[in-house]
Amino acid sequence: MGNQNVEAKDKRTRKYMTITYGCQMNEHDSEVMAGILEEMGYQPAETKEEADVILINTCCVRETAENKVYGLLGNLRKLKMNKPGLIIGVGGCMTQREEVAKKIIDRFPYVDLVFGTQNLPRLKELIGRAQESQQAVVELIQRFSPAPEGLPIRRASGVKAWVVITYGCNNFCTYCIVPYVRGRECSRRPENILAEIKDLAALGYKEVTLLGQNVNSYGRGLPDEIDFAGLLEAIEKIEGIERIRFTTSHPRDFTTRLMEVISRCTKVCEHIHLPVQAGSNRVLRMMNRGYTREEYLELVNKIRQYIPGVAITTDIMVGFPGETAIDFAQTLDLVEKVRFDSAFMFIYNVRPGTPAARMPGQVEEEVKRERIKVLIEEQNRITKEINRREEGKIHHVLVDGVSKTNPQMLSGRTRTNKLVVFPGTRELVGRFIDVEIMRGKLTHLEGRVLENTQ
Ligand code: SAH
Ligand code: SF4
Ligand code: F3S
Repeated sequence: MGNQNVEAKDKRTRKYMTITYGCQMNEHDSEVMAGILEEMGYQPAETKEEADVILINTCCVRETAENKVYGLLGNLRKLKMNKPGLIIGVGGCMTQREEVAKKIIDRFPYVDLVFGTQNLPRLKELIGRAQESQQAVVELIQRFSPAPEGLPIRRASGVKAWVVITYGCNNFCTYCIVPYVRGRECSRRPENILAEIKDLAALGYKEVTLLGQNVNSYGRGLPDEIDFAGLLEAIEKIEGIERIRFTTSHPRDFTTRLMEVISRCTKVCEHIHLPVQAGSNRVLRMMNRGYTREEYLELVNKIRQYIPGVAITTDIMVGFPGETAIDFAQTLDLVEKVRFDSAFMFIYNVRPGTPAARMPGQVEEEVKRERIKVLIEEQNRITKEINRREEGKIHHVLVDGVSKTNPQMLSGRTRTNKLVVFPGTRELVGRFIDVEIMRGKLTHLEGRVLENTQ
């Protein structure tokens, strides 16, 4: 009897969980981690308690993201004590920095595996080693290279897929840690990208989002005669894929040719995420962004001319070193002039090792908090106004799934990437439907499905 139990336990399917912080690139890397684990025979766990392997994919773009990871690791101590066979792995952007990797092992000695952003192809071996070793297995590769093609991917959705087009970043904005933890920019070969998207179409995927820190510079350094606009044109021809999105666009590299191509390609959606960061030329120069506020404003006007109905969203930061009240007023003024559909707004946070960390004139926390409050209030007012104007309009919506906050409701996105929530039944998931917008709120639109599309 006892023996049978042991056997049954051994045969139980081993389970895994990935926990992800940070941007879509990290979300996608977690899909690769999941793909590798599933190839090893693991199945997704519903809860942390039932997992045999927990992989935490970390972000270090701001300290708040790092603190969340420390908090989580602290909470996992008890779980590990109750289940010594549990493997806890920490990977991603935070651990790519050697000093942080060391700190994690010191502070959380029950962590079994630490790896960086370049180690995904070796994950299987690393997990195997962690299972056999008494000590933490640490592997960081400081030489950056693009991920090899053909790694398994276990995608979270069956309808929408992320597809990486460029790795790394060459821009070195002075506040930003990303180039140090993700390496130099490198484009994937177009034939590999197109093959991946054709496979997705064959599996029934309807939408792809092309990922890169700066998608507009796609193709630089490749032997192929191709730029980002050319890549969009090629993807447009793939049957089955009905929507094409991309992020992030750098304002400096947005060409007129790209606007023309976006307006011509019917599958390319009318949404541009165009981080501005600041509205003052002095601050933009110190950030090394490579454009002026005048150039940015002109770019927005031109994009709106070429792509009618386009939604423009952005990232903005307050409290960059040396930012004065006048500089901040310029940011507010730009926000009022552009009228972004929505914005991610951040307090500048010192990232050790970046040029801005050593700049004089670091702004006091209290001033930063006051500025972000004013900025958020202003942008929220604008977002609400814009969303209210959607009331009565009809949008073509790709249904993503059941709403996270209310199981009676479905959620989906408009072509302009606005979240729409509406009553409906599960069979609509993965389908395109027409939705009439009843109410425009700050974070989403509320709608009703039109009869003819049911
Ligand atoms: N490559 C993308 C995303 C970079 S990270 C881009 O260039 O837009 C996402 C956002 O985080 C940035 O746009 C910026 O607004 C913010 N960010 C980056 N570093 C930061 C820092 N040190 N403090 C606060 N916000 C930061
Ligand atoms: Fe960071 Fe700038 Fe690169 Fe974006 S473009 S990842 S903000 S360095
Ligand atoms: Fe993304 Fe954070 Fe890394 S924003 S690239 S996960 S530092």
